[in-house]
Amino acid sequence: MINTGIAIAGSGSATPSVSVDNHALSQLVETSDEWIASRTGIRYRKLASAETTLSAIATRAAQQALSMAQVDPSEIDLILLATSTADDLFGSAGQVQAQLGATQAVAFDLTAACSGFVFGLVTAAQFIRTGVYRNVLLIGADVMSRWVDWSDRTTCVLFGDGAGAVVLQASECDRLLGFELRSDGNQNACLNLSYQPQPKALTDQITIGQGNYQSVTMNGQEVYRFAVTKVPEVIEKALYRANMGAEGIDWLILHQANQRIMDAVAQRLNIPAEKVISNLANYGNTSAASIPLALDEAVREGKIQPGDVIAVSGFGAGLSWGASIFQWGKPSS
Ligand code: ACO
Repeated sequence: MINTGIAIAGSGSATPSVSVDNHALSQLVETSDEWIASRTGIRYRKLASAETTLSAIATRAAQQALSMAQVDPSEIDLILLATSTADDLFGSAGQVQAQLGATQAVAFDLTAACSGFVFGLVTAAQFIRTGVYRNVLLIGADVMSRWVDWSDRTTCVLFGDGAGAVVLQASECDRLLGFELRSDGNQNACLNLSYQPQPKALTDQITIGQGNYQSVTMNGQEVYRFAVTKVPEVIEKALYRANMGAEGIDWLILHQANQRIMDAVAQRLNIPAEKVISNLANYGNTSAASIPLALDEAVREGKIQPGDVIAVSGFGAGLSWGASIFQWGKPSS
């Protein structure tokens, strides 16, 4: 069997232009900048307008990633769109494929909430490893503002909208060093965006359930406890598979849910704060977009350099969590 290496060759990101601060939210619900900033680290979030589609922001992020990787849309073999907030429940990856003009690419959505980017990275890697595809575009994008209850102060202050993307390429030198993915459906009730069927009688004999999706519900404390115990474990497992210790990591990029979670995880792994990339103060929790958005900003700021070792870890609904260790950039760069 062919066993091809993987390089992460480019990144991109896109967010809506409207930035909303904590003071503005205190006009909607009983909250304060002090409460939100001290409990979460969030100060602003970008919110999509009613006209903004998920596929449009996903496409913008993808275009930037393709440009950085110097890959033409016609060269993409596969588009993976990690999202929980598709424009269309049948999937939005096809719309992104059309908007990019990626005529040769097969495209599908992948749903794993805030773990979506890491699950997508590993899924994309399997197609490259086996020699099936050479250029894969992975996008993490979510418009959580569509699904948040804006009268619930325990959730509405946490989320924001955005998209991030990377291009993965077949490479002689393998830069995907290790990964570990986990799920625990027994804790599914901690975090949901669930369908609520209403019985509808079609005939005397047939009743179906026709309803709507409800807003996000979350047991914040349970999710917090889960994150601070399980995320260090899964990063350690990925490091073990990469045959390295935490001291080998140049940058830690966690799902941007809460600064306190990031601090606790870094402390457990003995990773100094200056190696932890955080931009949640400006964007809030953008679900599947948060890791590639933080990665892309750090690459464009010149913090992350070619060859740097990056540990990423996503966690969230499912419950699901996972980590991956990779070196940034094309081996020749
Ligand atoms: N403003 C003011 N007060 C508030 C707010 C708010 N926005 N929200 C809650 N409170 C109140 C509560 O009602 C409670 O009041 P009470 O003591 O009178 O009952 C008090 O603040 C403390 O509430 P807690 O829930 O105990 O606050 P906590 O310190 O746990 O912080 C938080 C809550 C920020 C949600 C935290 O638990 C957390 O970050 N959890 C993890 C969430 C997460 O990481 N999600 C990621 C996954 S998302 C995904 O997968 C889509």
